Amino acid sequence: MLEIELRPEEFALFRKYIYEKVGISLSDQKTTLVKGRLNKRLNHLGLKSFRDYYDYLVSDVSGEELSFFVSAISTNVTSFFREGAQWKWLESYLPAFIASKKEKKIRIWSAGCSSGEEPYTILMFLQHHLSDFERWDIKILATDISSKVLTHAMKGAYDPKAVEGLSKEIIARSFEAKKTEEGRYQIRSSLREKILFRKYNLVTDPFFFKNRFDMIFCRNVMIYFDDVTRHDLIGRFTTLLPKGAPLFLGSSESLTTHRESLKLLGSSIYQRL
Ligand SMILES: C[S@@+](CC[C@H](N)C(=O)[O-])C[C@H]1O[C@@H](n2cnc3c(N)ncnc32)[C@H](O)[C@@H]1O
Repeated sequence: MLEIELRPEEFALFRKYIYEKVGISLSDQKTTLVKGRLNKRLNHLGLKSFRDYYDYLVSDVSGEELSFFVSAISTNVTSFFREGAQWKWLESYLPAFIASKKEKKIRIWSAGCSSGEEPYTILMFLQHHLSDFERWDIKILATDISSKVLTHAMKGAYDPKAVEGLSKEIIARSFEAKKTEEGRYQIRSSLREKILFRKYNLVTDPFFFKNRFDMIFCRNVMIYFDDVTRHDLIGRFTTLLPKGAPLFLGSSESLTTHRESLKLLGSSIYQRL
């Protein structure tokens, strides 16, 4: 493989473009990371310089290359029942939440859902805790900027390692009895059809939502965003949450703004005031 250099002026072009398009702020320290992670891509595309790759990236109106770039420089790491304390908190929140419902209808957004473990966990959780789960109209909107992870999420097939921590009961209830040909655990179609997977850029795509959500999960997504982008996105989330509804962030994320509209309940869970 040809080792292609990334010159400072080229890096500056990527930095500006990625910030405007995705809200990710790349510091100078990220030069090595960008160079290292994208070199294979340039070779694959037969491009000789990062300037050529920049032109290729900005001219791709489909957004596919941008999605590839973001996947290459950020992490898609996720897992079932990640952030255990938040699921514990939800257990205590659920009875009053269910009692407050006039209609048997639940709407949740998993924003930055990666390969799907988060939205499927939400369904596994509700299935476990609602004795009349089948009688509820439950829809999860699961969005991500990366087409690659969304393809995986939509298939809903997971390696044995990914389901290792799940109880036998959850595995039996949420996955098909028969594994896929590749030996993966396949999420049942009855669960998959409750999720609407969509490619969606949280920073630049319009907020088109007509209805509000009972909860929003946006965990471990804003780690790369700068304060302005984070502030703006949280502000938009609050408009989609009714009073009392929770917003879940990643455990390493905290809010320094929007104190007037969001109250910290602990474990990076915020409640709409
Ligand atoms: C580390 S994963 C988090 C997955 C899951 N929420 C969790 O906590 O396990 C971060 C995800 O955010 C997505 N992401 C990053 N920037 C984004 C943006 N501007 N719009 C939508 N998704 C984005 C990435 O593609 C990645 O799949």
